[in-house]
Order: sequence, then structure tokens, then C-alpha cells
Amino acid sequence: MTSAKQYLKPILEVKNLSVSFNTENGKNMAVDKVNFNLFPNTALGIVGESGCGKSVTALSIVRLLPKPSATIEAGEILFADTDILKLNPQQLCSIRGDKISVIFQEPMTALNPVHKIGKQIAEVIKLHNKNLNQIEIENRIIELLQKTEIPDPKKRINEYPHQISGGMRQRVVIAIALACEPSILIADEPTTALDATIQAQIIELIKEIKLKTKMSVIFISHDLGVIAEICDKVAVMYAGKIIETGKTADIFDNPAHPYTKGLINSIPTLKQKRKTILNTIKGMVPEFASSIKGCKFENRCSYAQPICKTKEPEQILIEHDHLVNCLFPFSVKN
Ligand SMILES: Nc1ncnc2c1ncn2[C@@H]1O[C@H](COP(=O)(O)OP(=O)(O)OP(=O)(O)O)[C@@H](O)[C@H]1O
Ligand SMILES: [Mg+2]
Repeated sequence: MTSAKQYLKPILEVKNLSVSFNTENGKNMAVDKVNFNLFPNTALGIVGESGCGKSVTALSIVRLLPKPSATIEAGEILFADTDILKLNPQQLCSIRGDKISVIFQEPMTALNPVHKIGKQIAEVIKLHNKNLNQIEIENRIIELLQKTEIPDPKKRINEYPHQISGGMRQRVVIAIALACEPSILIADEPTTALDATIQAQIIELIKEIKLKTKMSVIFISHDLGVIAEICDKVAVMYAGKIIETGKTADIFDNPAHPYTKGLINSIPTLKQKRKTILNTIKGMVPEFASSIKGCKFENRCSYAQPICKTKEPEQILIEHDHLVNCLFPFSVKN
């Protein structure tokens, strides 16, 4: 059990983060004044449709934004009181992959097709544990492959990524991410490229690892159903902003923002095909949303009032830990 004390101080604080892209059509604020905290031994879900700014937020934390098109306009990302945005490349290396690991949607992009799986895991282990000998490294590889429930680990070590299935490849990527026992794992849509059964297995695996290692997780998905499986808290993103945050149960039982309600309604049921996922929210996430004066969801919102066009909603406290940016939220408790 985690003591209440552990919850007092966040392990990661994202403060007022704004990131822009230079595009042919001008500056696009992909992430706009985003704030959130990640607490030890908890999982935070970031959810929103395609283009909302989830990956740009994740990439900012590990400073892997595309150069030179992306610019961090403002903000702080505090990890153990150190601002990641102020670190030099050497200092960054001691955090990225060591304290904070990331896994992405497509495992093949994280794996080198021409190297055997064992070699790829060994490289990461060696990078962060310089004193281990060959036998210790091999034992550690086997241990990691067992931890990620990869059958027959001794055989896998000598295989190439293309020789194993997509689900197994994602397990290898998770093994690499865990090689340095990070305090934070950022998983950006890690199961989207996999079929439903394998997706459920990978989610179960991340849940188990989180339980055993007590690491904190940021789990990014466009599917609130998947987030609910794994996360204690949820941050809902829309057009570069977090528009609602709260404990997962509160978000589901008591959604305050019409967009959150829309996302809940679009969780596919067993009978539906996954393709129907976003059908219930009509329209698209606007680009260049920072130029929109009022609420950025106004043009898609069935509950919008005339004032929503001109007044940007400020953050309102619904109840403890549950915050929303909406002028007419569903559930204000008095
Ligand atoms: N390399 C890039 N160049 C220009 N604009 C970009 C680039 N990467 C992202 N953007 C813009 O930043 C915004 C946020 O993109 P981001 O990739 O964070 O979305 P996302 O929420 O992760 O979406 P998805 O669910 O599709 O992964 C989008 O408007 C996108 O067009
Ligand atoms: Mg993304």
C-alpha cells in the first residue's frame, strides 16, 4: 500500500507548458498552457482525439520534439525539482531512459531491424550500468524478458525483431524501457497498432509491472476505455489544452465537460467495431486553435451558448482534484 505521505509531492510537475510548430500557414500552438502533476506510484492517463497535443506533451517531457520545427514557448517540467527544459544534453541523458522511459505506438520504430533482440537490450543496460560483466548483463536480459512475459527468453535473445509478432515486439520495447528501472514510464498509444486481444495483454502487463515496480506511468490514448483500465487519474486534452482532470472514477461517474461526455459515449461496446470509436462527436479538432477567441470546443458542442463563442472558459473546481474548463459544466457540486 502507498502511504498518504507519498502522494504529497509530485514526481513530475508540468507547469504552463506551451509548444508551437512553425508551419507554412504560420505558428501553430500544439500545446497551450498545459498543467498537470504526476504522483509517485500512480498512473495518469492523457486522453483526447488525434491532433489534441498528447504526443507533443509527451515528447516535451523527454525533450524529443522535432527540431527545428517545434519550439517550447513557455513552461517548466520539474522532475525531482529539476527543470528538464533547462538541462544540457549530458544532464538530459541521465534522465531520459534512466529515470524517464518512453514507449511509442509502433514498436518497429523503437527497434533496430538489423540487430538481435538480446544485443539491443544489452546496449541499453550497458549504457546505464557500466560496471556489469557479460554474464550479469545476460542474466539481466533474461530477467527483463521474463518480466515482460516473453516466452522462451533464451531463444528470443538471438532473434531479430522481424522474427517475432507485433505483440512480442512491443513486449521487447517495454523490456528495453524497463532496463534502467525508470521512475516514470511514458506510454504513448502503446497498444493502438495491436489487435484487441494483444492490446488487453499489453495493458495487463503494464499494470502488473506498475504494481511490482511502483513506477509512475503516463498512459496516452484516444480511448478512454483503455485509460480506465490502467489509470488512477485522467487529463482530457482538447486542441492543445487540458480541459478536464480528475480521478478516473470521478471523470466516468461525473463528467463535467461535454467533450469528456462525448469521449465516454464513444467508448466502443463489445458489439461495435473499433472504427466507430469517434462517431459520436461530430466535427474535427480545430487547427490553429489558439486563434479561437472563446471555447475551442464551441463549434462541436451541443450545449454551447452564445457566450461560449467569445469567452474563454477558466478552470473551475468541481470537487477535490476534479477540475474543468467549461462555462456550463454538467456537474458543479455546491
Ligand atoms: N512535426 C510536426 N510538424 C508540425 N506540426 C506538428 C508536428 N507534430 C505535431 N504537430 C501538430 O501538433 C498538434 C498536436 O499533435 P500531436 O501529435 O501531439 O497530437 P496527438 O494528440 O498525439 O494525436 P494522435 O492521437 O494522432 O497521436 C497537431 O495539430 C499537429 O498537427
Ligand atoms: Mg500522438
